[in-house]
Amino acid sequence: MTELQLKELLADMSLGEKIEQLIQFHGGFYGDVKLITGPGHDYTIKPDQQWRIGTVLGEAGYEHLKNLQDGFMEKQPHHIPTIFMSDVIHGYKTIFPVPLGQGAGFDPELTRELAEATAKEASAAGLHVTFSPMCDLSRDARWGRCMEGTGEDPWLNARFAEAMVLGYQGDGIEKQGNIAACVKHFAAYGAATAGRDYSGVELCERTLLEDYLPSYEAAVKAGAPLVMSAFNTINRIPCSTNKWLLRKILREQMGFDGVVISDYGAVQETVVHTSSCDKADAAAKALKAGVDIDMMSDCYLSYLEEQAEANEELCRLIDESCLRVLELKNKLGLFEHPIRGSKELEDKYFYCEEHKELSVRAARESATLLKNDGLLPLSKNSKIVVAGKLATSTNIVGSWAIFAEADKTVTFADAVKRRYPEADVEVYPCDEADEALLAACKTCDAVILCIGEEDDKTGESKSISDVSLCKAHQTLFDAVYGVNKNTLSLIYAGRPLAIPMLAEKSKAILDAWYPGTFGNIGIWELLFGDANPCGRVPMSFPYTTGQLPMSYSAFITGRPIGEWKGFVPFASNYMDVPNTALYPFGWGLSYSEFAYSPVSLSSDTLTADGKITASVTVANKGSVDGKEPVQLYIRDVKGSVIRPCRELKGLRKPMIRAGESVTVSFEITADMLRFYNEDMEFVAEPGEFQVWIGGSSLTENGAAFRLV
Ligand code: BGC
Repeated sequence: MTELQLKELLADMSLGEKIEQLIQFHGGFYGDVKLITGPGHDYTIKPDQQWRIGTVLGEAGYEHLKNLQDGFMEKQPHHIPTIFMSDVIHGYKTIFPVPLGQGAGFDPELTRELAEATAKEASAAGLHVTFSPMCDLSRDARWGRCMEGTGEDPWLNARFAEAMVLGYQGDGIEKQGNIAACVKHFAAYGAATAGRDYSGVELCERTLLEDYLPSYEAAVKAGAPLVMSAFNTINRIPCSTNKWLLRKILREQMGFDGVVISDYGAVQETVVHTSSCDKADAAAKALKAGVDIDMMSDCYLSYLEEQAEANEELCRLIDESCLRVLELKNKLGLFEHPIRGSKELEDKYFYCEEHKELSVRAARESATLLKNDGLLPLSKNSKIVVAGKLATSTNIVGSWAIFAEADKTVTFADAVKRRYPEADVEVYPCDEADEALLAACKTCDAVILCIGEEDDKTGESKSISDVSLCKAHQTLFDAVYGVNKNTLSLIYAGRPLAIPMLAEKSKAILDAWYPGTFGNIGIWELLFGDANPCGRVPMSFPYTTGQLPMSYSAFITGRPIGEWKGFVPFASNYMDVPNTALYPFGWGLSYSEFAYSPVSLSSDTLTADGKITASVTVANKGSVDGKEPVQLYIRDVKGSVIRPCRELKGLRKPMIRAGESVTVSFEITADMLRFYNEDMEFVAEPGEFQVWIGGSSLTENGAAFRLV
């Protein structure tokens, strides 16, 4: 349709009809409920309205959606199709590593491929929009949803966010095989106070703008046509009624002209937050703030029409929002092709060979080798004991795998039978060490302990106050370690756990995150040396929960301690643990050994509109090929406001053959050095800068330049 036709359609619609376009209800009204989050609400949706609302949440499957769409087209007075939206976060049927695991992959290009595959499956099943990417930066492992994000770093999160959008949307959201991305949760939901889900966010404006917003902005700039407003407050105002956030920052400053949808029931929750008097007030506030679609509350549906009849501003805003929704439907091609997918496409893509291989590869790339005292890779002739309930668990795919079938998930124990049927592996799927297990451990070459947390322990509303490895797994480790020192800790988790004891005693630690449907096959390939680990820590591992929130890019205080050699009185440190992470951002081992040349700069002076190149040569000194995430960090030595001790500004992940070397170069421009100065201007300040290039945020391989 042309813009003119859309406007004519709008002009022909009644006020009630327009408001109905601004509503999203879940599919529970139409079929099986897949997942309902949030408190139950007493909606007042009338049976005929059910078939006229603009968008539907959480339903999928070609046949089912086709039937629903036929109903909408028939019953909506102007035959306007609905949009089917759902949470397809890291796979639809074939589940890939959780976003935090993808973050550990340190490879946004791979994530783009995963999003592409996800879109093929989801659109085969009739979906139009996914509620992804979740761009919420998180530095607090207590927060259950840190698993749904790609980690603690603003620059890297932004790369992942745009990669997901590009992958989902491919060559156009109107085309079969692609789906539209909805960027969420705007904004800073991952900074929930004390890591408790839904709690308020208290951030200074600079931190919000510089650290938390870049990933949403990158996703918007990559072309996402929807943004979801978050549950939390910013500046003590709930995001879904926060005019400054949605109109000034999102629309004006970021230039977003698409549709804003509230999170689930978030408009109504502003009444509970106490900043809206009642549902009518909440509806008016949210609409004025810039929320176009009210997801899962009846604030708009039941409380806008009467208010708007006597209020020109509300009428104008309803028109604007409705037009945006119609424009989105038009961009999705719904007026020409209201139904997406087919039975044939579902059969072709669900769990297909190509996606299976991608799932295995992605798991291999994201698993992070935290420690290896020579135990890995294991010899294929060794006698191995596997212990722990997680070895036979299918709860290793992460939350939001709502459309996947659990019985398709390959457990760790199954994976070895499939991939290495000859291997001498005995499995004891118990979290308590009994005599049989200990006897087996005594006589084997290596013990693999599957520990961590099942995936129902993380996700939305699954925050915890203590991120240590659970007691049962500590006890299991101790018992097994007591009889066999060749103990490998294989961790499944949706967050960086506090594991100082494992770090000290385990012979090796591999963090598999949640590897997805077929990912365990890739984990075995790593363990047996048919693949080489190349994952990196996306979110710092603390020694203890008390250090949270934490980030490698923290600020230097007025009383720094330098390298920790024990407690320093009256300095900025703890009495019991270092300030730094147990395993910091960017950290990870390989079976190869990579040697970096010193950083070479094309010039030691950078001009405001010029560029310099920073290069290193990385040599693989090991005997196996391997990928190395080469990381560029920069520090602004002095600023008009305090500056982070270093920030990631560039990344490459080359494959380097054994015995060979590659040269990696990064361009540095003044644009990359900008921040909000004393007067809140976004500028780069002349002066000295340090630059490092290395294999983790700890690298000291540095050089310096001046910005003039
Ligand atoms: C979550 C969102 C999700 C929405 C719809 C909410 O509870 O916070 O991330 O997209 O439900 O399922």
